[in-house]
Amino acid sequence: MNLKNCINIEDLREAAKSRAHKMVFDYIDGGADDEKTLLKNKSAFDNYELFYKVLSGVDSPDTSTTLLGEKIDVPFILSPSAGNRLFHTVGEVGPAIAAEKVGTIYSLATLSSVSIEEIGALTKTPKWFQLYIWKDRGLVREMLERAKAAGFTALFLTVDLPIAGNRERDPRNGFTIPPKIGPKQIWEGIKAPRWVKDYLLSPQITYANLNNATSAISLNNFIKDQMDASFNWADVEWLLGEWNGPSILKGVVRADDALQAEKVGFNAISISNHGGRQLDTSPAPIACLPAIRNIVSDKTELIVDGGIRRGTDVLKALAMGANAVSFARPYLYGLAAGGKEGAIHAVELIRDSIVRDMILLGAQSVNDIDESFVKTISKV
Ligand SMILES: Cc1cc2nc3c(=O)[nH]c(=O)nc-3n(C[C@H](O)[C@H](O)[C@H](O)COP(=O)(O)O)c2cc1C
Repeated sequence: MNLKNCINIEDLREAAKSRAHKMVFDYIDGGADDEKTLLKNKSAFDNYELFYKVLSGVDSPDTSTTLLGEKIDVPFILSPSAGNRLFHTVGEVGPAIAAEKVGTIYSLATLSSVSIEEIGALTKTPKWFQLYIWKDRGLVREMLERAKAAGFTALFLTVDLPIAGNRERDPRNGFTIPPKIGPKQIWEGIKAPRWVKDYLLSPQITYANLNNATSAISLNNFIKDQMDASFNWADVEWLLGEWNGPSILKGVVRADDALQAEKVGFNAISISNHGGRQLDTSPAPIACLPAIRNIVSDKTELIVDGGIRRGTDVLKALAMGANAVSFARPYLYGLAAGGKEGAIHAVELIRDSIVRDMILLGAQSVNDIDESFVKTISKV
């Protein structure tokens, strides 16, 4: 499907499916175990309705807001995602430029396939650096220093991945990073000639922030070898001291964890279950928002992440007390469907739907979107 015929994120998903190799599409699209959380992240938004105001006279709403003191033109940021050159040769360059195009924050993954330095120099809008905790603390320190030197303004610490979730589509597809090409991949490759051509013509895909090229290995084994599952609240103090700057804890669903995060000094919390890729049957982030908003102070900013596909999803989260939302698959579908232009198209679709829906809602600014606009559907 041509990009301009993609009028919503689901269309981009279909376009990604038809262009990308099956193992790549499934890596983006899939979740853990039975994918119950993956589905619920999206469907949970159906539990809420938007109660719009009439005759509010809103004709050009202001979608801008601030996050950790930085002004952004839209109430969303781009969630981090690993290995983007697998999806399209431009890799993380595509979504980083897309974020700049709509005036928002891009967050670069620890396991990115384009380096901290390249992305740091690429765009002018603020960028956050997402960290996983390596067993090798020297490597953690080195990455923090590199991110700071490259102009990344905040540390985005992801803590819902002590080990990799059980994403069953990946072993079925024989998926590894970098991809290992066997008979199955060749067979599926015949159906994805554009992806295969790009893949064969581009340099080998690696984790660009690591010095040594890794050999083809499943993500599960890589994470088990390299990441520190024993990292805990006591270690966080050390980490925040090393970073000494604005920080966000990503992957929280419980109110008590949110409170603890605030206590140890995080400035913001990303309510997230990793897009349903980690612990299956964990709750949808939007459903966790009210309890967390209730328990933390107003100065702790909340970002809801998971299942955001339309402007109405964004407005519901804002009305329920989020400061902003974030997402990954929408821009990844765009990237896999059409590179940089596809990633830009995805964020523009979401931005434009927010503008349209704020007019329909009767909200002039993001600050105006309060709890009066949202109601939970009463169960029959
Ligand atoms: C292909 C893919 C790779 C991801 N890689 C990372 C990562 O490296 N670090 C991280 O914190 N989250 C990662 N995530 C999770 C996202 O940051 C985000 O929490 C999640 O995708 C949000 O759900 P959504 O895709 O429905 O918007 C990844 C998600 C996807 C789909």
